[in-house]
Amino acid sequence: MSMVIAFAGKGGTGKTTLAALTVAYLKRTRGKPVLAVDADANSNLDQVLGVEMPKTIGNIREFLTQNISKLPAGMAKEVWAESLVQQALVEEEGFDLISMGRPEGPGCYCYLNNIFRRYLDILSGNYDYVVIDNEAGMEHLSRRTTRGVDIMFIVSDASFRGVRTAGRLVELARELNLDIKKMALVMTRTNGLPESLEEEIRASGLELAARVPEDPLVRKLDIEGTPLTQLPTESEARHEVERMLDVYLADWPG
Ligand SMILES: Nc1ncnc2c1ncn2[C@@H]1O[C@H](COP(=O)(O)OP(=O)(O)O)[C@@H](O)[C@H]1O
Ligand SMILES: [Mg+2]
Repeated sequence: MSMVIAFAGKGGTGKTTLAALTVAYLKRTRGKPVLAVDADANSNLDQVLGVEMPKTIGNIREFLTQNISKLPAGMAKEVWAESLVQQALVEEEGFDLISMGRPEGPGCYCYLNNIFRRYLDILSGNYDYVVIDNEAGMEHLSRRTTRGVDIMFIVSDASFRGVRTAGRLVELARELNLDIKKMALVMTRTNGLPESLEEEIRASGLELAARVPEDPLVRKLDIEGTPLTQLPTESEARHEVERMLDVYLADWPG
């Protein structure tokens, strides 16, 4: 069975950074198959992991929708779709990556989406760990694309709005009765929390999993476009993320 780790929260708080550091941590410490899922259309998980993404699931959906009449003779639609979706999976050393691309538009391509969903469910089952980098905000919860998650780290910067969004995500996840076994808060880019925020954190009811400091080494790599997998061991942000994962993944066999 795979352990599914998801990151959610307001935009620009550090979800992608944390997801990339988690993939690097799992690769280094566990040596088991890891699937990284880029579920943010505007994201760049591929870049921070140093991977070239040829196609996204969104690209394939568009192609299929436009070319459904050109289906190779004698081939079932489903087999055709599945063989194309496989092209969106990139295999790297120590982890694989799949990118969702743009979410489905207002017109529901239910048939295709069901194929994709089933493919992703089966695919996820082949890995010991699945790391999902979600889009900002709550859409992914209301669309119910985030489900079957073992731990969802809700990420916030040291701002009132960030923590408020975190609180709303928890409420919504509970309201929708999504299958998320555990949720915890990660405060990022913070070197100390003002009292007003501590109050807001208490109000969210979330346990504080980590405080990731603003780290000049993370900024340096970001400016250079160097993958975060190369973040040096002395990085304080990396240190805090690894401490958090040691704690939250301790009970998971592997
Ligand atoms: N701990 C940190 N220290 C310094 N810069 C950070 C830190 N975490 C994230 N950043 C920077 O903040 C920006 C937003 O981070 P990102 O991970 O892309 O956020 P999100 O995925 O939530 O939108 C990026 O430029 C990233 O390099
Ligand atoms: Mg992101």
